Amino acid sequence: MIRRIGVLTSGGDSPGMNAAIRAVTRVALASGIEVMGIRDGYKGMINGDFVLLDKSHVADRLDRGGTFLGSARLPEFKDDEVQQKAVEMLQANQIDAVVVVGGDGSYRGALALTKKGINCIGLPGTIDNDIPCTDYTIGFDTALNTVVEAIDKLRDTSSSHHRCSVVEVMGNHCGDLALYSAISCGAEIVITPETGFDESEVLERLKYLDGTLKKNHAIVIVSEKITDVDSLARKISTHTSFAGRSTILGHVQRGGSPTANDRVLASRMAEKAVDLLVKGQGGMCVGIINNEITATPIEEALSQARKSRKHLYRLFDRLV
Ligand code: ADP
Ligand code: F6P
Repeated sequence: MIRRIGVLTSGGDSPGMNAAIRAVTRVALASGIEVMGIRDGYKGMINGDFVLLDKSHVADRLDRGGTFLGSARLPEFKDDEVQQKAVEMLQANQIDAVVVVGGDGSYRGALALTKKGINCIGLPGTIDNDIPCTDYTIGFDTALNTVVEAIDKLRDTSSSHHRCSVVEVMGNHCGDLALYSAISCGAEIVITPETGFDESEVLERLKYLDGTLKKNHAIVIVSEKITDVDSLARKISTHTSFAGRSTILGHVQRGGSPTANDRVLASRMAEKAVDLLVKGQGGMCVGIINNEITATPIEEALSQARKSRKHLYRLFDRLV
């Protein structure tokens, strides 16, 4: 039987993490279980940076971006002794089990703790939507809406000046933010790890859009870590009749009030996490597949490839 669970947020923050902490707290308290907030992810876990959460601690948090518990990256958590220290700290504070909100790195930490006797459940908290065994991650919808709002504005000014906007979005090796925003904004070109990048192809395409289709603007959405968008914009200015301008959206994509979809998703997933811990289960990660909340062993999730997005790339190609 568990009497006290811990909750932490780890890795890059995402909008909806507060909603997840709130729901873990409220659902657990409703089941007679105490909740210990762990500050700054695994860093706070090994330092004993804990706060006992009551209902009022999580009031007025649902609509806030970021994570009020703080998040951090602690590379040393891969070490066995550091994990052992965490287990000792949890035991000393009577924390029987933990909900970890983060990405796949955070899941690995959760799995390691489970193997050492502290049941942990992972919730997918990242704007990147790069976690297997879930259709959506907590924060993706909000980040997507932030990107769409920004690109809609860029389109206005681009069309006034016969410009091509080259917009870099986040995603950390996953093209979902770029692809979904390209479909949402009616972009002319999308470049992601899945599409690959051929600079001369992009320039030829833009010449065709301008010369043959007489477009007065173009939007090129590029996933981060693929190419230098400033240099691509300069080449567009030199080799096409569009004036190229680059915009790196950066960390603005990580902030902001979570959308209703992210709040509901976080709350549903958090409820599942508490229910699993109450049943004595650990080493699982929660997902949403076809609108059903699911639980998958972390080991299995980490060994799986993400679902193909071929159908969405095909749709994008048919829309341009
Ligand atoms: P994310 O969770 O968003 O993928 P990171 O990859 O930065 O972000 O991981 C977050 C934290 O999870 C790391 O700083 C580290 O503390 C922990 N972590 C990452 N990989 C492992 C691992 N292989 N074993 C144990 N803990 C890990
Ligand atoms: O994983 C979320 C994310 O925002 C990625 O999209 C991006 O590559 C990375 O984190 C940026 O990390 P940092 O917070 O270290 O700048």
